[in-house]
Amino acid sequence: MPEVGPNTIPLGTDNDGRAVTVELESLRKHVAVFAGSGSGKTVLLRRIIEECALRGVSTIVLDPNNDLARLGDAWPVEPDGWWPGDDARSREYLAGSEVVVWTPGVSKGRPLTLEPFPDFAAVRDDRDELRLAVDTAVASLAPRARIDGESHVKDGRRAVLRETLMYFARHGGGDLDRLIELLADPPDDVLDLPSAGKHASYVASALSYARSNDPLFDGEGTVFDPNRLLTPTDGFRARVSVINLAGVPDENRPAFINRLQMALFSWIKRNPARDKPLSGLFVMDEAQTFIPSGKTTPCTESTRNLASQARKYGLGLVYATQAPRGIDNRITGNAATHVYGRVTVPAQMAAVQDMARARGGEPPKVAVLTAGQFYSSLEGQPMTRMTVPMCLSHHGAPLEDTEIVERARTRQ
Ligand SMILES: Nc1ncnc2c1ncn2[C@@H]1O[C@H](COP(=O)(O)OP(=O)(O)OP(=O)(O)O)[C@@H](O)[C@H]1O
Ligand SMILES: [Mg+2]
Repeated sequence: MPEVGPNTIPLGTDNDGRAVTVELESLRKHVAVFAGSGSGKTVLLRRIIEECALRGVSTIVLDPNNDLARLGDAWPVEPDGWWPGDDARSREYLAGSEVVVWTPGVSKGRPLTLEPFPDFAAVRDDRDELRLAVDTAVASLAPRARIDGESHVKDGRRAVLRETLMYFARHGGGDLDRLIELLADPPDDVLDLPSAGKHASYVASALSYARSNDPLFDGEGTVFDPNRLLTPTDGFRARVSVINLAGVPDENRPAFINRLQMALFSWIKRNPARDKPLSGLFVMDEAQTFIPSGKTTPCTESTRNLASQARKYGLGLVYATQAPRGIDNRITGNAATHVYGRVTVPAQMAAVQDMARARGGEPPKVAVLTAGQFYSSLEGQPMTRMTVPMCLSHHGAPLEDTEIVERARTRQ
């Protein structure tokens, strides 16, 4: 394997066998991987997670396709595409990394639940941050209270929710029960709005119904705590927390991810990386399903906030998408490292060429690439064609639900 330093991640090798690398610190400025189906995106994400773990950096990774819950599995036989020495590296990764599979919505596994709003106490004294926290809380609660979308009445109900949340946040926050109580008996600031009493009582009951109808909303399980998910227990070098989404219905995933990202954001602010090159990694595969371009989802706003702010605090974000034009461009615009893989659909090819050109590179010949071959576009470096090594843990067929539960229960 090509030699690289302790704070450097190898991504692949160029045509002359030299390592194409990225500094851990540069991962703070995020990575976006664009490549069609079957081109090796998930393998590349896994290898990045594994190389980070080998260097003591922990990861939270969303698993939308049931294949990332295998991050703690050894290969049954040596796979094609490993670098020399990868058998030893694979053993070292598996022994030193604590892979924990979380199963929100699945009580038989290792359920995980989320606070429905961010930690207001942490932002109470900063007007801008308070406003941002209230905005994201409105975005997360509105679909639950069925007051997202456009209509005069919904506008009024959202305004009442926003003002109540502002009051709630300024007065120390609390849990969902406390918020519902406050809506049932709104403070004077809120009552100044037209029809405020009626709107507030509607939102209070809608949130109460949502809580009993959707187990994931204020549901059972360990409350998501980024510190816990990013801190290995004694004896391990890094923790890899896989959040398997099988128990979260498709339509609820963006709202779930929104709340997760809000919690992550408040945590990184309180726990910046300081002297470490990178405090952790947050990885999103199939990003086009959560943060599509041209359409706002409940997690668009929090993803944009993370993408523009996380670098300050030392959290690295990695996105992969099979639809190059399919993900919000404010998010890809905030990724210093782009990686382009095989794409054959003409419109998608054109999208990749445009992105590469905008970054000052020669248009990459993405149609002729095979699985595991990519072009890297790193800050300040010419675009380089590279071959990515196979991942160190077993990349097999998607797991069945029972196999996920088994991993969630047994692995610690
Ligand atoms: N770096 C690599 N070295 C060798 N083979 C690879 C490599 N990357 C991918 N492959 C092969 O290609 C297959 C597909 O890779 P992968 O699952 O990562 O693609 P993907 O882009 O995530 O696809 P999808 O869009 O379907 O999720 C792998 O199962 C493996 O056989
Ligand atoms: Mg994949």
